[in-house]
Amino acid sequence: MGWFEERAGLAGTVAVVTGGAGGLGEGISKDLSANGVRLAVVDIDVDAVEALRGWFEEQGCEAVVNHGDARDRRVLEALFGAAVERWGRLDTLVNVVGGTFRAEFTDTGPKGWDALLRTNLMHVLHACSIAVPLMRANGNGGSIINLTTVEAHRAAPGFAVYSAAKAGVTQFARSLAVEVGPYGIRVNNVAPDFAPTKNMLMMSGAQPAATTKIGAQVRFPLARVGKSTDISNCVVFLASNLSSYITGSTLHPDGGTLASSGWFNWPEIGWDILPKQVIEALGDYPDPGEAP
Ligand SMILES: NC(=O)c1ccc[n+]([C@@H]2O[C@H](COP(=O)([O-])OP(=O)(O)OC[C@H]3O[C@@H](n4cnc5c(N)ncnc54)[C@H](O)[C@@H]3O)[C@@H](O)[C@H]2O)c1
Repeated sequence: MGWFEERAGLAGTVAVVTGGAGGLGEGISKDLSANGVRLAVVDIDVDAVEALRGWFEEQGCEAVVNHGDARDRRVLEALFGAAVERWGRLDTLVNVVGGTFRAEFTDTGPKGWDALLRTNLMHVLHACSIAVPLMRANGNGGSIINLTTVEAHRAAPGFAVYSAAKAGVTQFARSLAVEVGPYGIRVNNVAPDFAPTKNMLMMSGAQPAATTKIGAQVRFPLARVGKSTDISNCVVFLASNLSSYITGSTLHPDGGTLASSGWFNWPEIGWDILPKQVIEALGDYPDPGEAP
């Protein structure tokens, strides 16, 4: 066993991943599995479920891959139950499920808010409430990892309720981390900005311009959009003993956008918020003498 495997201590552990068959979840499940983790996955996308089952079979890996809606507590109970029945322990929970749509807050109503809170916050509470007693029963602690977003850390016009729900997860994770810390259970978040997945690109307001070379250079300090592995690497780290003294925290695999907040790398101009040349191009550059 090499240095990484020994320090990480992932081989033989058991993880539940909600939304673990498609999008970012697929990479997370496969990368955990590549490190010897035994997986119990639920996903609402039947094709993704079939594909992941086939992949596990090809790899000769033990896994449970259920089709279901993680917003339904009974579905979660069945998944955790299957994992514990099969392997007798639970070490890691990854809450991947989440999603949104773009709309001004005042154009939305209680039905839409409810849907956003169920998809982005409530299932995290349900999954954690099932996972914590199982991890405590292990006696070896555990690691809970929530997929949040950069929008939990800045304003998100058009996504106000999504952003509030993910900020809710972020704050919930802090408090839960403190409550369960004495049992060796860690709770952390991973907050991507833009790592294009099939569903994300179908969403209105997904900003395809960011996927162009210039768009990516303007928006991301690291001058590229995120890759699935940028996110799964963080999850593997947080699931592993390499992060054994980190809890109540958030990792930001966002190419630097949280750090740069509001600063853009304009072509031929460089870093600026709204540079003189851009304002002039818009025909609205005020005389400094007239500034308020
Ligand atoms: N992709 C990004 O750039 C990005 C950016 C910021 C935050 N995030 C967050 O990361 C997470 C994953 O994003 P993604 O782009 O992979 O999303 P996605 O829509 O591809 O969903 C990931 C997986 O979850 C499954 N899923 C969705 N709802 C489910 C449900 N109710 N029950 C069971 N499975 C369900 C989907 O079928 C999919 O396989 C989300 O929480 C999202 O808010 C993603």
